[in-house]
Parts: sequence; C-alpha cells; structure tokens
Amino acid sequence: PPPQPAPVESTQYPYLIRRTYTYTTMSAGDSQPVVIESINAQTYHPPKREPHHPEPHVRDIAQYQELYKESIEDPDAFWGKLGRELLDWHTPFTRVTQGSFEHGDIAWYTDGYLNACYNCVDRHALKTPDAPAIIFEADEPSEGRIVSYSELLREVCKCANVLKSLGVKKGDTVAVYLPMIPETLVTLLAIVRIGAIHSVVFAGFSAESLRDRVLDADSRVVITSDEGKRGGKTIGTKRIVDDALKECPDVEHVLIFKRTGNEIPLVPGRDKWWHEEMAKFPSWCPPVMVNAEDPLFLLYTSGSTGKPKGVMHSTAGYLVGAAATTKYVFDVHPGDRMGTAGDVGWITGHTYIVYGPLLLGAATLVFEGTPAYPNFSRYWEIVERHKITQWYVAPTAIRLLKRAGDHHIKHDLSSLRVLGSVGEPIAPDVWHWYYEKVGRGKCAVVDTYWQTETGSHVLTPLPHAIPTKPGSACLPFFGIQPAIVDPVTGEELVGNDVEGVLCFRKPWPSIARTVWGAHERYLDTYMRPYKGFYFTGDGAGRDHEGYLWIRGRVDDVVNVSGHRLSTAEIEAALIHNKAVAEAAVVGVPDELTGQAVMAFICLKSGYENNEAFRRELILQVRKSIGPFAAPKALLVVNDLPKTRSGKIMRRVLRKLHAGEPLGDTSTLQDESVIEHLIEVIQQAN
Ligand code: WT7
Repeated sequence: PPPQPAPVESTQYPYLIRRTYTYTTMSAGDSQPVVIESINAQTYHPPKREPHHPEPHVRDIAQYQELYKESIEDPDAFWGKLGRELLDWHTPFTRVTQGSFEHGDIAWYTDGYLNACYNCVDRHALKTPDAPAIIFEADEPSEGRIVSYSELLREVCKCANVLKSLGVKKGDTVAVYLPMIPETLVTLLAIVRIGAIHSVVFAGFSAESLRDRVLDADSRVVITSDEGKRGGKTIGTKRIVDDALKECPDVEHVLIFKRTGNEIPLVPGRDKWWHEEMAKFPSWCPPVMVNAEDPLFLLYTSGSTGKPKGVMHSTAGYLVGAAATTKYVFDVHPGDRMGTAGDVGWITGHTYIVYGPLLLGAATLVFEGTPAYPNFSRYWEIVERHKITQWYVAPTAIRLLKRAGDHHIKHDLSSLRVLGSVGEPIAPDVWHWYYEKVGRGKCAVVDTYWQTETGSHVLTPLPHAIPTKPGSACLPFFGIQPAIVDPVTGEELVGNDVEGVLCFRKPWPSIARTVWGAHERYLDTYMRPYKGFYFTGDGAGRDHEGYLWIRGRVDDVVNVSGHRLSTAEIEAALIHNKAVAEAAVVGVPDELTGQAVMAFICLKSGYENNEAFRRELILQVRKSIGPFAAPKALLVVNDLPKTRSGKIMRRVLRKLHAGEPLGDTSTLQDESVIEHLIEVIQQAN
C-alpha cells in the first residue's frame, strides 16, 4: 500500500481528522488492480448527544465491539435473545440457527410460530391504541392524515376479511401495484395476517414488467388503485394493470382503491372497488399463525441476466433483522416518528417503512410525493410538521436538493437525531451537505449498505457509537462477517488495505432464502461464485483502519437513482425493435442519478439512424421496463467491442466513455472498432 500521510487536525471542526490516501479497484474481467482515484477520507466522531435526547441503544464503540463479538462467537445466544426481545411468539422457538450457504438450507427459529401482522399491529394497538402508526403526507401538502394503531388494526382486519372472501389462502401470493398511500400498508399487513405472501411491484414499472411478475409468482389477486398522484401529476395506475392482465388469464380478482375518483373502465366480474368490499366486513379477523420459515413476501429484483428474480424472504428471520437494524441503526425509541422517503415498491420501503418501524411500535411516514413538489422545501416541511426523528433517503434526492440550494431549508429540523443514506454510494461532498445543512452538525449520518437479498442493513455505522467516514458504509452490523475476496483466485484477502469483491461468511437471520421457483438460480447467483461465501455482486475495499468502502457492482447491474437495473434486461428491450441488430448497455457516472444508462446500438442494414428512431427506442425501454430505465444517451455504432468468442466487452465501452485507459485489450476480436467508437463518443459529447 502507498505510504499514508500523517493525520491532520482540522481547525474548522474539532471532531474531524483528515487523511488522504489512494485506493485501488478491481472488477470482474480486470486481471490487474488499478489505482483509480484518490479521496480525502475524514473521520467524524459521533455528534454529542443533546440533553433532551434519549440514551442511545449502543453507547460507544466499545459497546458495539462487545456486542459484535458476542454476535459472532455465539450467534445462537445473541439472535435467540433478540428474537425473544423483539417479537411476540405464539409458539416460542427452541432452535435458533441452522443450515449453510453451501447447501442453501438456511433456516432460523425453525420450531417457532408467529404472525407478522400481529407483531406489527395488534400488540401495539392493545397497549397504545391511540399512538400514531402511519403519518400520511399526500402529494398535495394539505391532504395528509394520521392513522393510529387501533385504526390500523381495524382497517387491516377488514381488508384481511375482503381477501379471504376473494379466496386468498395461506401460502397464496397476492400482487400489489399501489402508490404510496396508507392503504398500501393496510394491504401488505392484511395479506400476511392471513398467512398469504405479498409480491409488491413498484408502481413505476411498466405493464410488461407487472405481467411478468404476476405470472412468475402465479398471483390470482391483484390490488391496485384507480390512479396515482405524484409531483402534481396523475398516473394511470389501473390502465397499466389492465394492459398487464391481458396476458394473465389466471388472475381472478382485481381490488381497486379509489385514489382520485376519475372515471376508469371496470372489467365486470373481475374488478371490485376497495370501499365497497371493505364495507361488507367486520373489523376483526384473527391472525393466522405461521411457521418461522414460512414465506413472508416476494420482491422481484434485477440480476446480471434478463429475467428478474423473485427474492423470497421468510417470516421470523426477516422480522428480527428488520426490527434489530431499525432499533440499533436508527436508534429508534418509543414515540419516535421515522421518515423514510422511499417507496414500498423497493426493499427499503418493505423493511424501513413497513416492518421495521411498526414492529417497534413507532410511527412511520408514508410520503406519496416527490422532494421537488410543490417546491424543494417539501422534505423539510414534513420533518418540521411531524417532528420527524429519523430521516432516511437515497443520495440521489440529497444531490437534487443540494443543487437546488440551501435557501430551501428554512425549517425547524431540531427533532431529527439520525440521518440515513441508502441505495448507492454517497459522495463525500453530498455527505457533508447532508451532515451540515440538514443535520446542523448534530445528527449522526448513517450510510447503510444492504440489498434486497440481505433483507436489512449489513454494513453501517451506529449513531453515537461508530465514528464515520463520508463515503464509507463503515463496519458490519451484528452477526455480519464481511470478507473481501480476490475475484480472480477466489481467495479471501485478509487484513486491512485490500480490494476485491464483497462477500459474507455465515448466514444472518434476514438473508433471502430462495429465488421463487428457481432455487438453483439462487445458489448459482449468490452461493456458488465463491465457495463458502454469499456473494453480493459489489466490489469493495477495506481501508487501513478496517472501514469498508463500496465501489459499485462488478456484474452487469446498473444503479440509477438507487433503482437497480439489469443491462441485459434493457438490451433485450432494445433488440425488440426490428431495426436493431445488436445492443450493449452500460452504466456511466451521472451527477444527479449516480449512474445513467447508456446504450450502444448496431442497426440492421437498410435502417436509418435519426432522431425519431432514437426516440422510438427510448420509448420501447420505458414501455417494457419502466420510465426510470430509459437510456440517457443512445449511440448508434457500426460495431461493438467483442471477445474472440463473441462476448460483448462492456468494460471497454465503459472505459472508452470515461476516457480511461483500456487496460488489457488482447482478447478483442477486432482492434479497429476502438477508433470508431472513440470517434462516435467524441461526436456525441
Ligand atoms: C445494491 C442493492 C438496499 C436498499 C436499496 C437498494 C447498492 C445499496 C449502498 C450504499 C453503496 C449501495 C449496491 C447493492 N447499494 N446501498 N450504502 N453504498 N452502494 O437495494 O435494489 O437490492 O440494490 O445497491 O450496489 O448491491 P437493491
């Protein structure tokens, strides 16, 4: 490793130590690590606790280390205790952990029985019926409302009765295609109350994507709304469902929540209004007890290959992970009001809008709108109005607000204690802005690294306990054993100052148990690439102090505004067009969205490259995946860089676009393509 300069005390901030060092990075396909960047790593010690704030759950680094050691040395004792503390059980478990990555038979709390909805709603409704459960902020600032725990219980019970009347039974999957409204949480909780499995499809996905997910999960019931409202615009939600269901003959019922009341067509016999059905049933429905390992939900996510994977989470392990991380990472205390500005369509919403906060009996924000509507103050208005205690958002939103200007923050943000970041790396300047302008130097910033598959945070600081470095996800959560692995040899790189791919050694409670209907694919994707480890798909480094830095995906997954996309899926959408002979999609750095989609296209002979054609192609991607997957740039080229065996070298495209040295190109079939590509890229800039 290069020699490290001595730390310099900052004069501006007494709590800050400056260090500069260079790091090397490696990605799959590179045989040599290359030094690519030098960053300024600064250590922030946890801000001092304000006298009126509660005593943090983890006091200091020593206590973190002690708990961490316990969690690794005796996982049965550690997770057994948390399982009993955080959840109520119908039949208590006597076994804690079993199974391994290698055999793909991971299981936790196997002889325990419980109900997820009971744990999220009933037990709080009995103890604190009037406490707020949901803080709803509608798209229009004046249209929100608060839902108490007792009200939530009544709504959930009614909805569970409706589902039963539609024939939904334990083990059935129910597709949910809804905007961010309280009824979305009511729906999910009602589904798990009767032992069924929810499969939420983000309402920004296209009809084709929805169709594929409904078919793969074999859902017979779909729950949606007439329309959605976001950023002052109306979205034709039900229309998309109608398109999707044209090719889903097994869907028997569509339950529609009336959000806007605009006229929509109904399919007789299939479509039913939420309010009419809810009015037919009493507001009590007994919860169905399920085994700890019974499935709780499916959530589809993109991988390296085209077809999305139905990631399956089981009940108890997932709930323990969600509750434990919400408690420790956000330092949630009774009476807290957690503000996760995400969408239930992604894992962040599942774990930190629905399950985590409700398991702890806290209030959770459901925000229908965007950070820019009606203006850039919207987030801070919400924080002030509801005295939000934790704020959790993706860096893409923070970048947007930083760019909009500091003058939009003119609110009382003193209720905030913890600020979270999720979904993509947060650049140090954005981290600083968040820390200084939103946190006023008084809140801990937690950069949480995790995935749909991990279920809950795996790398993260703990507020008050772990000193942070902007841009680093810091240290492992309890029970997590990260390993940096050499992508070429598959050997673990031990010690500090190492770069490789990120893996985990040993299962934790909330890790996904399978890919729905494709267990081999689960093993192939996560368990087999590096024997004995779970493979994340991310590159990562461990610095000289043992802090972990995520470098981004090493597979063909791009991250646009924290949305995970598969390049193969976008390529498949492009090739759909009759004029396209070949397509290669890469993720390129983007100031606002983190990464942006860039497509390289080869045309079939006889087709012309013009503006209208390029627009048509972009529309094709929006239609087959969703608007957020649309390429930002589309370049028509004569040829693509390929290996002798004909594989497209996306790495070469990425490096050409970035103007970086290409490295080893000896495997290129035809070197002359490089010059042509440089020319096209330069013309486009
Ligand atoms: C991928 C997982 C986890 C909720 C939202 C995304 C990237 C996630 C971070 C972070 C750098 C991050 C990784 C990961 N990622 N959090 N704090 N720093 N990168 O869930 O859609 O399953 O995507 O998001 O590349 O593999 P997801």
